[in-house]
Amino acid sequence: MAQDRVGMFRPGDPWLDIAGSPIQAHGGCILYDNGTYYWFGENKDGENYLDPGKGFLHRVDVIGISCYSSTDLLNWKNEGLVLQAEPENPESDLHPSKVLERPKVLRNHTTGKYVLFTHVDTADYEYARVGIAVSNTPAGRYEYLGSVQPNGKDSRDMTVFQDDDGAAYLYFSSEWNKTLHIIKLDEEYLHPTEVEATAFVNGSREAPAVFKRNGKYYIVSSGCTGWDPNQAEIAVAPSPLGSWEVLGNPCVGPGAEITFHAQSTFVFPVAYKEDAFIAMFDRWNKHNLRDSRYVWLPVKFEDDQPKIHWHDDWDLSVFSRRKQDSS
Ligand code: GAL
Repeated sequence: MAQDRVGMFRPGDPWLDIAGSPIQAHGGCILYDNGTYYWFGENKDGENYLDPGKGFLHRVDVIGISCYSSTDLLNWKNEGLVLQAEPENPESDLHPSKVLERPKVLRNHTTGKYVLFTHVDTADYEYARVGIAVSNTPAGRYEYLGSVQPNGKDSRDMTVFQDDDGAAYLYFSSEWNKTLHIIKLDEEYLHPTEVEATAFVNGSREAPAVFKRNGKYYIVSSGCTGWDPNQAEIAVAPSPLGSWEVLGNPCVGPGAEITFHAQSTFVFPVAYKEDAFIAMFDRWNKHNLRDSRYVWLPVKFEDDQPKIHWHDDWDLSVFSRRKQDSS
């Protein structure tokens, strides 16, 4: 029951919204805006089948990108689809036969717009682009502007990170996932700039999640094994562009060598808490993708090293200190 969830995060358990339906927000992200958390993710509430081309990729038709809202991170209200599939147009990036993954949303404080970035692809993953959509309000709906291969590069798993100075960066697995590319976005967040870097050259990393703590930048990523779990890795850099020093596997506890049977998607700071970050992972169920689960765990810094310990259940009291300044 939805009530069981009240008060505790239970990584890997079914997670119901406040109306009692399983949350459909896979490969997601959190946006904190005006006192409310918004959780965006893939709605995978469709029938599983193998892709018609290669015949071995498990997929569901695109339904759209969901949004949920909450003030406590535990109890979520379904705000509906903020970007919807377009079944009537087979050419559309948003046609159900396509791929729509890993949505990430930023608020641009210069334009006041909310900008949504997402991996758009064909079922064979050869289209490899970033789709961009905008809205005047966090919970949408978002107007789809189209997709790009950023600076001519193929882009599959991706994320964005907004720095304290308002600059935003796009991180994406490129060169058929062999190398991660980083591109600074323009002021509006609508176009790539020429400021670029690469990371983990030939390292085959995907599922990137970037956060900043005490002036240092961290990136969590996975290896490339599709829906199957593998070992996470975390790296640190003095700037959002690098250069990255690999620190190793941040996960600790049973199943840590395969990221607790899950894959990274996002890391975010908890509002009003000092040094409090939550790492979001997806526990994919490739045979029934709609039943993929969420694994949210606290990130702790031990001797300045980021660690993600397994917890059967936990709550925000693991983050002891409250921020002095609430800004
Ligand atoms: C994973 C990727 C997911 C999805 C999946 C498809 O490696 O992180 O977002 O694309 O492959 O098999």
